[in-house]
Amino acid sequence: MRIAVVPGDGIGVETTREALKVLHACGGAETRFPWGADHFLATGETIPAGAFDMLARDFDAVLAGAFGDPRVPDGRHADEILLGMRRRLDLFANVRPVRALHDSVVPLRNARASDMDFVVFRENTEGPYSGRGRVAGEGTPEEEAVEEDVTTRRGVERICRAAFAFAETFEKPRRLGRPPRVLMADKHNVQKRGGGLWNRVFLEVAASFPSCEARHMFADALAHEMVVSPGALDVVVTNNLFGDVLSDLGAALQGGLGLAPSGNVNPGRVSVFEPVHGSAPDLAGRGIANPLGSIRSLGMLFAHVGRADLAGRVERAVATCLAAGETTRDLGGRLSTAEAGDAVVARLDG
Ligand code: NAI
Ligand code: MG
Repeated sequence: MRIAVVPGDGIGVETTREALKVLHACGGAETRFPWGADHFLATGETIPAGAFDMLARDFDAVLAGAFGDPRVPDGRHADEILLGMRRRLDLFANVRPVRALHDSVVPLRNARASDMDFVVFRENTEGPYSGRGRVAGEGTPEEEAVEEDVTTRRGVERICRAAFAFAETFEKPRRLGRPPRVLMADKHNVQKRGGGLWNRVFLEVAASFPSCEARHMFADALAHEMVVSPGALDVVVTNNLFGDVLSDLGAALQGGLGLAPSGNVNPGRVSVFEPVHGSAPDLAGRGIANPLGSIRSLGMLFAHVGRADLAGRVERAVATCLAAGETTRDLGGRLSTAEAGDAVVARLDG
């Protein structure tokens, strides 16, 4: 495994350090890169020219921390490093599992951890995130802002294919003895153009995965469904904006931002794995951030590079720590970031 590591800023540095303990305990090694706010402020460089080609050529996967620092108010370095990797490496699938590993972390009164097991496939390159648009009459009573929300057939098709291909391999429906379900969420009732394209292409792709059950819900109804019957979901595929919002709800359902992992994936290419949380300046430097989101992101990285065995070991060790209350204070435990990382290492089986 050729693994590049970019810890970044704030708690990203602290949580990545713990993920690296786990990597080393699993026999792996890494090449570290200093890109982040400190490096930018010291050198004026965000990420070197050629870095994206170098990552694509020399590595199988990247583990990233978080990017964002109050000393760089416009977040320029974060844009160029993180959004740069997503765009330049064409990481079109933002894969965000919602998997609760112990009943104690589930926030819903009548739900159990076993109810919380689905994966959100968020389109990662399109939608209203392009920065295109215009403002007319700024500051006047007639001010009007138009944000361009871009959807392409190629973009929708590849994220839908990735979601169905994953669903065919997903363990949960197999365990339950029913076909895998892929649910597409959009708002084609109001967003007739972009949503209409999503709806047509989703149905076309679904036709080539007859072993899967294809469903549709409007995104607002899905937010409701995620809370009232999350157990019915297997794979959710949606656009960049709805995926952004719904996957934070998903993070809460599995125990909070401190636990949620993610991958920015292009199958068969170098992909970037990172916790869902940001650099949390309110916690940075205090040694209390929860490292489990970073550690579980390493688990996803392992699965991506063909080491499902190691991915399973990591998830089991995290589950054991949760069951034993060996956690940081956001989950009700008393451990520091470093102690929580050590606890996972100590709980690795095999
Ligand atoms: P955040 O995720 O950093 O923090 C949100 C809240 O969750 C805070 O109260 C924080 O204390 C708590 N939290 C986050 N991670 C935690 C952990 N591991 N353990 C315990 N508590 C945790 O989001 P926020 O505050 O909106 O953004 C802070 C900075 O991070 C900004 O500069 C933002 O742009 C950046 N950011 C970067 C991301 C990335 O690199 N992927 C993602 C989200 C935000
Ligand atoms: Mg977000």
